[in-house]
Amino acid sequence: MQHTTELRGRVAVVTGASSGIGRATAIALAASGAKVVVNHRTGGDSQAKGSAVVETIQRNGGTAVAAAADISREADVDHLFEQTAQHFGRVDILVNNAGIEQPSPIADMSLADWQRVIDVNLTGHFLCARAAARAFRAQPPDPGRQNLSVGNILFISSVHEVIPWAFQVNYAASKGGISMLMKSLAQELAPERIRVNAIAPGAIRTAINQPAWDTPESLAKLLALIPYGRIGEPEDVARAAVWLAGDDSDYVTGTTLFVDGGMTLYPEFRGAG
Ligand code: BGC
Repeated sequence: MQHTTELRGRVAVVTGASSGIGRATAIALAASGAKVVVNHRTGGDSQAKGSAVVETIQRNGGTAVAAAADISREADVDHLFEQTAQHFGRVDILVNNAGIEQPSPIADMSLADWQRVIDVNLTGHFLCARAAARAFRAQPPDPGRQNLSVGNILFISSVHEVIPWAFQVNYAASKGGISMLMKSLAQELAPERIRVNAIAPGAIRTAINQPAWDTPESLAKLLALIPYGRIGEPEDVARAAVWLAGDDSDYVTGTTLFVDGGMTLYPEFRGAG
């Protein structure tokens, strides 16, 4: 992990940071100097996994704390931002990462299957973005940051904000929703110099899509969808997140950066159609 000082003094909240893209992003933000709140869900082995991420960051010389919260619950989200203020005194960056899948054919999809995915992937992102916007407004401006952003919100979306996904209509609908949530919020908050962007990852090697890459057969099928010829790694997304979270991208707002090895280039049309 390359260490820089790009984000020194910044405080970042990363949701769903106990594994996958969230974990890699938390580690990368900390390696760039940010103090990081590693949010993880409540229950199960999440606590232990969140603490392990904090330990990794600290071992690398960074600063982090773990914070449990179910981001689909308003009270949990408020508490998450209160904890952030208590630990680090402010918040500058929100990485809205937490997301789940609950696949099934439409006829078998229960209302609960639909609702849970929308609750976490879309409503949860709204709740955290709202809490961040309120916090950005309430805190005193940093005198060292004249003419730079006073807050930065990053949504981790998916290629499925544009690629329809059979058997995952709940997931695709949540990601399509994130796209307009992100753009509308960027339009609303730009005059306050709050930046809002998204990253749309393609197939990244994490637990969420393990069946899609953990056998040679499934990996071959997946690679047929990726012109660049390899599966993505969580660090591919994390590096893009650091750039969007930092001042090098200061003039970028309201945009979605696809980190997908060309998955959205419709590779099946190469030489066909
Ligand atoms: C999903 C993965 C999937 C990828 C590409 C992501 O948003 O979470 O399960 O492999 O999109 O289809």
